[in-house]
Amino acid sequence: MYRIDSMSGSEILDSRGRPTVAARVVVNGVTGEASVPSGASTGAAEACELRDGDRARYGGLGVRKAAANIGDELAATAKGRPFADQAALDRAMIDCDASPNKSRLGANAILAVSIAFARAAAQISGKPLFEYFATLAGNTKPTLPRLTINLFSGGKHAGGQVAIQDVLMVPMQSTIDDGLAAAYAVYYAAAKVAEEKYGARALKADEGGLAPPFPSIEAAFDDAVAAIRKAGLQPGKDVALAIDVASSHFHEAGKYKFGGNNFGSSEMVKCVRSWVDGWPIVSIEDGLAEDDWANWPALRQSLAGKSIVLGDDLLCTNPARIRRAIETSACDALLLKVNQIGSLTEAAESLKLARGAGWKVVVSARSGETEDNWLADLAVGWGGDFIKVGSICQSERLAKYNRLLMIEREHSLRLIGAK
Ligand code: PGA
Ligand code: ZN
Repeated sequence: MYRIDSMSGSEILDSRGRPTVAARVVVNGVTGEASVPSGASTGAAEACELRDGDRARYGGLGVRKAAANIGDELAATAKGRPFADQAALDRAMIDCDASPNKSRLGANAILAVSIAFARAAAQISGKPLFEYFATLAGNTKPTLPRLTINLFSGGKHAGGQVAIQDVLMVPMQSTIDDGLAAAYAVYYAAAKVAEEKYGARALKADEGGLAPPFPSIEAAFDDAVAAIRKAGLQPGKDVALAIDVASSHFHEAGKYKFGGNNFGSSEMVKCVRSWVDGWPIVSIEDGLAEDDWANWPALRQSLAGKSIVLGDDLLCTNPARIRRAIETSACDALLLKVNQIGSLTEAAESLKLARGAGWKVVVSARSGETEDNWLADLAVGWGGDFIKVGSICQSERLAKYNRLLMIEREHSLRLIGAK
């Protein structure tokens, strides 16, 4: 039985310099701390981050109210009360909030407490955090995820140089250690390719991806393949590609508007298929928009056996949306972002639904991150097929990669899909 001695929240800054929430929870005399990330290319169905709205301070983005809710209402609900497990605490906070999307107390406040509690509970059990997460999800075999690492950025994470949001490297090596070394070689080769082609050092986007002024999306794919070769590696075999089209963000009035195109949904499906046919792309995220439900099954059919069809904005880690996607065969992989739903317990439910349908799972960071590294433990504990953290620069990203390196060194875990 867990008993909460105290709980407090504070406002800290994320990797964009925007306020976010950190929580400290003392459970059975043991202190757990955690902070939460924040997205920029958010899905419409995400749980609500509570922001102060005072435009004179951080343009309204302050989180003093959310942080105060931890020490006030949430603490009043939880303090001194015995909780059997993580789910009991999460449910108590969800009931206390009582809104459909955590808009009253803030998903940022509730999730920070949820994860800080997990840290304390893991410490109480004397186990590493990833083992505690594994137990939460009923996973008996923690594994190391395959890395997907941001190489090029566009869309809302850059200056819109290209419409799609991420071109990611997928190192096919059988360890995290070797995968990161391959990604490093490709990243710096890409920086050179971009400088030679576009005449200036490429700007970096929110997640550290390079953002040169590509003339087209296909040019970005060509440059990615050229960089893999320049690094002495074989495209597709040593390093494959994945993309986040993030197409909700250029979908207007039923049309996909990008690079001079004005595509209907079936033209968009054809276009995405041509990318998968032309380049070594193993995963397509949000190839269609979050509200284009009717056309996702056609996208999935078109890519079957060629590429993973991954839902981010489409699903928002929301069990109800995941159920709908399973019923309609809309996709075959879940991008799992815990803060889209706002508690570990609900995210674990999303994970179980996806696994039950035989889907792949990609455990993902947000474009606004902190130095906290719990995401690495989550990906390992929940057996994520992939982890998506951003590029291999910027400390808020490296906190997660470095934690994966430590887990790999200290525990004998298998990397998913390694031969
Ligand atoms: P976000 O982007 O964190 O800005 O939402 C990440 C993604 O779209 O995968
Ligand atoms: Zn996405």
